[in-house]
Amino acid sequence: MTATKGLEGIVATTSSISSIIDGVLTYRGINIDDLAEKASYEEVVYLLWFGKLPNRAELNDLIAKLSQNAALPEQVLDLIRATPKNVNTMAALRTFVSALALYDEEANDMDVDANVRKAIRLQAQLPAIVAAFSRIREGKEPIAPKEGAGIAENFLYMLTGQEPEAIAVEAFNKALVLHADHELNASTFASRVTVATLSDIYSGVVSAIGALKGPLHGGANEAVMAMLEEVGSIDNVEPYIQDKLNNKVKIMGFGHRVYKNGDPRAKHLQKMSEQLGKLTGNTNWYEMSVKIEELVTGMKGLKPNVDFYSASVYTSLQIPRDLFTPIFAVSRVSGWTAHILEQYENNRLIRPRAEYTGPSHQAFVPIEQR
Ligand code: ACO
Repeated sequence: MTATKGLEGIVATTSSISSIIDGVLTYRGINIDDLAEKASYEEVVYLLWFGKLPNRAELNDLIAKLSQNAALPEQVLDLIRATPKNVNTMAALRTFVSALALYDEEANDMDVDANVRKAIRLQAQLPAIVAAFSRIREGKEPIAPKEGAGIAENFLYMLTGQEPEAIAVEAFNKALVLHADHELNASTFASRVTVATLSDIYSGVVSAIGALKGPLHGGANEAVMAMLEEVGSIDNVEPYIQDKLNNKVKIMGFGHRVYKNGDPRAKHLQKMSEQLGKLTGNTNWYEMSVKIEELVTGMKGLKPNVDFYSASVYTSLQIPRDLFTPIFAVSRVSGWTAHILEQYENNRLIRPRAEYTGPSHQAFVPIEQR
């Protein structure tokens, strides 16, 4: 038995949800480029869960269900209020999502329809949790979701208390579409491993949030913004990047396990970053990002991934830096739950082996002789 480090190249399951073939990403066979330009996030959620694009009535029904299910249990709001203000936001999200299960009577119901209802609730409640936590820690009251509004509009509204501009809703919707699913990424795999024991959907999503938190995965978008802030100005980009690369420090937002010729999602985020920068009258973050890309690609051949330009996009939307990774979860929860439903459909326990590298034939030494 020989282990493959990081399971690179290992095909661990079949899935009909999303694919990366020759560097092209599709959701249910539809190119991400088309979905990014043409689809609402709710259409993508429907596509991921049910395997086809919704017709108008099906879409309206899903939008209505999402807004009807967005209200948080009072006990979870109390927990958010009791949480220290300066905690790690992903640790907070992980805790609040876990708490949702305690107030869901169907939490442990393994019926297919019950699981779909829980997927809807999770998708509806994650944006509400992130917005409520953000407001409560600023000493403000949480805002109830608007009935009938889509997730992009509702999230920005619940976060700021103001009607978002159409361009902000459009940009945020696109970011949600681009982050919704990504084959067997680390957090999705974590969710599938958890539910393959026939544990419940909340446990699967909590495992996924824990995996997404790390800077080698979803946490990279916050790390990119921290880097841009540290760099500070375009003149400092070159010495900063050269110093990091000479010292073998990874540049966040670059590289990918699967894409070696570039992440197809990055170009959409780059375009959005430029547009929003121009619109807000601050193109500094965008220009610094472009310069970083030139240097990292030139020196290391590494291309930006989905996290790189998301950082400047979210900053232009005036979203606090430590909400970037929770926002990733707001979108990826659709993919996680689609994979969890698929795993239940055709389940087998996921239990690989390890190549043992420890000592062998060791004698037991009684404690008095150690
Ligand atoms: N900056 C500098 N060097 C890098 C980077 C980077 N961002 N990424 C990879 N490398 C180098 C490594 O140092 C290593 O070099 P070496 O062979 O000289 O030691 C080589 O490229 C291979 O890197 P690995 O980390 O082994 O590649 P792996 O496939 O395991 O990692 C990963 C992929 C984790 C995404 C990596 O590229 C990385 O750490 N990137 C930065 C973090 C990041 O942006 N994560 C988000 C990924 S997208 C997402 O999850 C949503």
